Amino acid sequence: EKGGYEHFMLKEIHEQPKAIRDTLAGRVKDGLVDLSQDLSFTEAELKRFDKIHFVACGTAYHAGLIGKSVVEKLTGIPVEVDVASEYRYRDPIITPSTLVVVVSQSGETADTLAALREAQQTGAKVVGITNVVGSSVAREADEVLMTWAGPEIAVASTKAYTTQLIAIYLLGLYLARILGTCSETELSDATQALVQLPEQVEKLLQDPVAIQRVAGEIAQHEDLFFIGRGLDHAVVMEGSLKLKEISYIHSDAYAAGELKHGTLALIEEGIPVIALATQKAVYEKMVSNIIEVKARGAYVLGLGLEGDTELGKSVDEVITIPDTRPLFTPILSVVPLQLLAYYTSTARGLNVDKPRNLAKSVTVE
Ligand code: M6R
Repeated sequence: EKGGYEHFMLKEIHEQPKAIRDTLAGRVKDGLVDLSQDLSFTEAELKRFDKIHFVACGTAYHAGLIGKSVVEKLTGIPVEVDVASEYRYRDPIITPSTLVVVVSQSGETADTLAALREAQQTGAKVVGITNVVGSSVAREADEVLMTWAGPEIAVASTKAYTTQLIAIYLLGLYLARILGTCSETELSDATQALVQLPEQVEKLLQDPVAIQRVAGEIAQHEDLFFIGRGLDHAVVMEGSLKLKEISYIHSDAYAAGELKHGTLALIEEGIPVIALATQKAVYEKMVSNIIEVKARGAYVLGLGLEGDTELGKSVDEVITIPDTRPLFTPILSVVPLQLLAYYTSTARGLNVDKPRNLAKSVTVE
């Protein structure tokens, strides 16, 4: 049942190229994204939305954080992102022209479902991004955008997250196409880059040796930091959650520029720091943040883009991801972080697929 893999999590990490391909299938036509088979909104309805809320929990919330950047960049529509357990209690401003997107792998998460119902009661339209056909989210949302990751057994979510990102990219590109907020060339270039992602993920999965080495090092620590800027910040939040969940090592994910506002005080000799530097627009700033922690003795794993010859000079280990558009890097950069969590957990001899205190589907509020 584990297809020759030692754990479901490793199997599911390796299933990502297929899961991504399946989620893209039938949704790209003539080189452009077409979701008209999935969403029954008319053009006029789509044009009426003046803000979007992403609401979700855990890993799905981290996908929503990426969704904010993606949708805002591609469409110019303001986006807010909330964890579902906070959303209802902060009295969010929801109007009939608000589009609420709930993201839930299982489609059964109690807080996410409650947010969906409340949004509908205030007259908003809800799109559900879910992986389970016939789940509560699939049944109750006004519109459903399925992820086709296949069953995810390991408690730690991997292929569900990357396919949620694909669903979000598809949604962003489709909205941009209908609203006319991107040129046709921009849309077709982006779509071309999107369909290359499965192959790029495959490439990333080929050689885990450097990641295993870093995992062996961090398995001996009880505290570490993840840092990144822009989209990399959202990705390190996911990397940090994954590591906590299955290796029981405490970590914080920081926007790298925030470190010097307090947390830098915790950086001392030998503390591991995982630093993502895939965002070209903030690359120089990120490198100076890396130098700040390095100067205080941190052991740094840098994760950058293929062809980056600079990063290696300021870190202890470098891992690279294939080059893609800045908006799409999260799908690639999260993979080494998933593997890092996996190998750290196994190095510690822990129960990877069923970590303590956690359930796959959280049906209590
Ligand atoms: O089924 P959902 O996507 O609604 O689940 C949300 C979270 O419970 C889930 O992503 C959780 O954070 C994962 N165990 C993280 O790996």
